[in-house]
Amino acid sequence: MNNGNSNNGFVVWLTGLPGTGKSTISAELTKIFQEKGFCTETMDGDEIRKGLSADLGFTKEDRQEHARRVAFVSKLLARNGVAVNVALISPYRSFREHARNEIENFVEVYVKTPLEVCMERDPKGLYAKAQQGEITDLTGYQDTYEEPLNPEVVIDTCDTTPEGAAETIVSKLDELGYFSN
Ligand SMILES: Nc1ncnc2c1ncn2[C@@H]1O[C@H](COP(=O)(O)OP(=O)(O)O)[C@@H](O)[C@H]1O
Ligand SMILES: [Mg+2]
Repeated sequence: MNNGNSNNGFVVWLTGLPGTGKSTISAELTKIFQEKGFCTETMDGDEIRKGLSADLGFTKEDRQEHARRVAFVSKLLARNGVAVNVALISPYRSFREHARNEIENFVEVYVKTPLEVCMERDPKGLYAKAQQGEITDLTGYQDTYEEPLNPEVVIDTCDTTPEGAAETIVSKLDELGYFSN
């Protein structure tokens, strides 16, 4: 909950399989946060892997370290008033619990889409590569994804548009008191 400090931002942590819609929904959230007058930043897993996590691969240890770095930077931003979107597969519950424990204003959003639909969308061609054996550790297809047990929000992207998803998330943030200052 917001502790009443008007400098407090928050972290919306979007987790889900590749192609589920995390980056797309995050872009919609960014627009809304800007309209509300927030400074906003997106911590997108793919982008972070080009910079801060350029040294990391896809072992469990590296995925954990990637999530740890994202959580660390997100925490610094949020405590300085930034509305942060994290768009990160973050496949393990324990990583997400670490982030929840680290970050004061943490809102977990499970972007839920059936694997078959993600495979049809395949926005980055990753599932095709996995099917051809060019990738051997794709989350959801070959590697573990642990569904959230108690996320603040679940978005089923087969039932809603990206704009609708963003509105649902914003309503939850409002309910939790993040827009009250
Ligand atoms: N309701 C929806 N929410 C989000 N994305 C959707 C939705 N319906 C279809 N899509 C499409 O699914 C794809 C999701 O890709 P992306 O956002 O890059 O996924 P992720 O970041 O989770 O890997 C995009 O091509 C997007 O247009
Ligand atoms: Mg993405």
